[in-house]
Amino acid sequence: MQDTVILGIETSCDETAAALFRGPEMIHHITATQLVHTSYGGVVPEYASREHNKLLGPVVRGVIEQADMSLSDVEGIAVTQGPGLAGSLLVGLSYAKGLALGLDIPLYGINHIEGHIFANFIGQETLPTPFLCLLVSGGHTQLIHVENARDYTLIGQTRDDAAGEAFDKVARLLGIGYPGGPLIDKMSKQGNSRFHHFPRSSFEGSYDFSFSGLKTNVLQYISKQDSEFIKLHLPDIAASFQEAVVDVLSMQTMKAARDLGHDRIVLAGGVAANSRLRERMVELANEHEKILYQPDMRYCTDNAAMIAYMGYWKAGSQGSDPLDIAAVPNLKLSFGG
Ligand SMILES: Nc1ncnc2c1ncn2[C@@H]1O[C@H](COP(=O)(O)OP(=O)(O)OP(=O)(O)O)[C@@H](O)[C@H]1O
Ligand SMILES: [Mg+2]
Repeated sequence: MQDTVILGIETSCDETAAALFRGPEMIHHITATQLVHTSYGGVVPEYASREHNKLLGPVVRGVIEQADMSLSDVEGIAVTQGPGLAGSLLVGLSYAKGLALGLDIPLYGINHIEGHIFANFIGQETLPTPFLCLLVSGGHTQLIHVENARDYTLIGQTRDDAAGEAFDKVARLLGIGYPGGPLIDKMSKQGNSRFHHFPRSSFEGSYDFSFSGLKTNVLQYISKQDSEFIKLHLPDIAASFQEAVVDVLSMQTMKAARDLGHDRIVLAGGVAANSRLRERMVELANEHEKILYQPDMRYCTDNAAMIAYMGYWKAGSQGSDPLDIAAVPNLKLSFGG
């Protein structure tokens, strides 16, 4: 099982991606970001499925050709089963089932969220569990105690918007464009993060988060300013907003790590690509003598490498899935460990 060649397929949202792995090691991966959504300021689900349909074949062929291999070398298929957009998941899952049936090889349905968490350890044969994970993406903001690859306990979560969603919504409010997270990150480098103090949410006796009040606060703040002021101070406002998000995420994480006695902290998800969050977490981890894992930048946002890597784990631990598994748009991590 250790050297099994696994093809990973990811189509849960607006990235069409494939990756080839041998055991825990990546051979090659391709992520095609769908550009069709840019002019709409967000992902249009129907267009996303159509684009996956168009792009998935060439992306899979590309990854196999660039690895100098052929389809017959593939020994297992790992595919995102959920969470994600129903139509988009169906394209990837149907394609994967077809390949598994045609090649007579096992199929592994993968939880996209587990993929994000374990993307930190791609290439490794062992996992440094237990650890505390801050999962911050477009759809999730959660603090999770990870006992091992099957045993999770939810420590805290957002009560409204996910952190990535807040970045995207505020970028839209500021007219910065889509996708908001990377654009705010880039623009903030030219801005003063102390320009305006936006409120930081906290809940007594809880590790939960909230970002919708912050978004409303940004809206109220800019609606009181004239357009010249906003234009002049856009990087300052962006940096001040980003600092508020980073403060809340990092402080809650460190508080939970301290209270629960965690020495290892893992960042995961698209917002883990944020340069200020990464910088702040390194500072805090050093200060509090914690071991910090941050995913390689290639594996923060959606990609198929993390799906293929989970396929490697599933092949070794739980075995394959039947060909009639369904796409599960609201698939959760199974908590309760
Ligand atoms: N550098 C960055 N700074 C802040 N946010 C970022 C950065 N890069 C990406 N993001 C945000 O990450 C999100 C995308 O991450 P990801 O692909 O993990 O989410 P998703 O797949 O849409 O949701 P989920 O994984 O929860 O189902 C977007 O909201 C995007 O704005
Ligand atoms: Mg994702």
